[in-house]
Amino acid sequence: MFDTQEANTEFVDFWNEILVPKFTKYRHVLVGGLTHHSAKIFPSLEVHEGDRVVDVGCGFGDTAIALAKRAGPSGSVLGIDCCEAFLEIARGDAAAAGVDNVEFVEADVQFYPFEGEFDFCFSRFGTQFFENPVAGLKSMRRALKPGGTMTMIVWRGIEDNPWLGMAKEIVLRFLPPPGDDARTCGPGPFSMANQDMVTKQLEISGYTGIAFERVDAPLMVGNSPDDAVGFQLALGPAGEVFREAGEEAESKRAEITAALTAELGKYETDEGIVLPSSSWVITARNPQ
Ligand SMILES: C[S@@+](CC[C@H](N)C(=O)[O-])C[C@H]1O[C@@H](n2cnc3c(N)ncnc32)[C@H](O)[C@@H]1O
Repeated sequence: MFDTQEANTEFVDFWNEILVPKFTKYRHVLVGGLTHHSAKIFPSLEVHEGDRVVDVGCGFGDTAIALAKRAGPSGSVLGIDCCEAFLEIARGDAAAAGVDNVEFVEADVQFYPFEGEFDFCFSRFGTQFFENPVAGLKSMRRALKPGGTMTMIVWRGIEDNPWLGMAKEIVLRFLPPPGDDARTCGPGPFSMANQDMVTKQLEISGYTGIAFERVDAPLMVGNSPDDAVGFQLALGPAGEVFREAGEEAESKRAEITAALTAELGKYETDEGIVLPSSSWVITARNPQ
């Protein structure tokens, strides 16, 4: 990993210790589901042949690989993530796809020593977990050449994202909310939902030309009701409530599973269990 004494180890440790195995198990939900939110805007991204692109919090690397294809052999992509286990999968997928203009580096983006070398900075659902969002957004701006563009995708509020919110409500009927000392992945998936607050964070971080676009998309949370229940109890806000409740959660697993199965089963389609989701695609520029 990129060596820095300032690196935020608490959240990065949580990602590596707790979330990596769960994300890997439910990769089909995460990559498949999240792709809807990037696919809608990918054609309009300002990425050109020959560009240097950085993908922040790139996870399993699918968007970094797609961007590398777009930048072509005269361009290149750097995918950065704080979990080496995700990057190993990303490197394997890039090699299998014959894409050799993408490199994957393990680092905490908030502290990465960028040098203004990139034309475009992209992040799909990676920035919401920065311990210090302004530090992270500033770091991403420092990655850009003057006039370079940053596009990040973040979730809108939990009320607009039943794919995560509904299961949380159900689990909270049986278990207490997580306490203040709960271990977490950082501020969390809905931490950049507020347009005014994120606009302010971007302005403080030195960006101009800030624009928001709403993207609504169906999201598959599991191949079957069982798969969807497993996903909800492993990840997201319902997963956090369940994990933090420890033995109490285990003792009530059967009744919680039954309640989730009944509710999630209502959303069964030919493509699995599909619920609505909603994101902001936020674009901003590093000034000239
Ligand atoms: C919700 S996942 C999204 C992954 C990927 N972009 C996608 O859309 O499939 C968030 C990612 O951000 C990474 N991440 C969280 N905090 C980070 C940080 N401070 N520096 C680098 N990566 C970070 C996590 O390891 C994880 O892979």
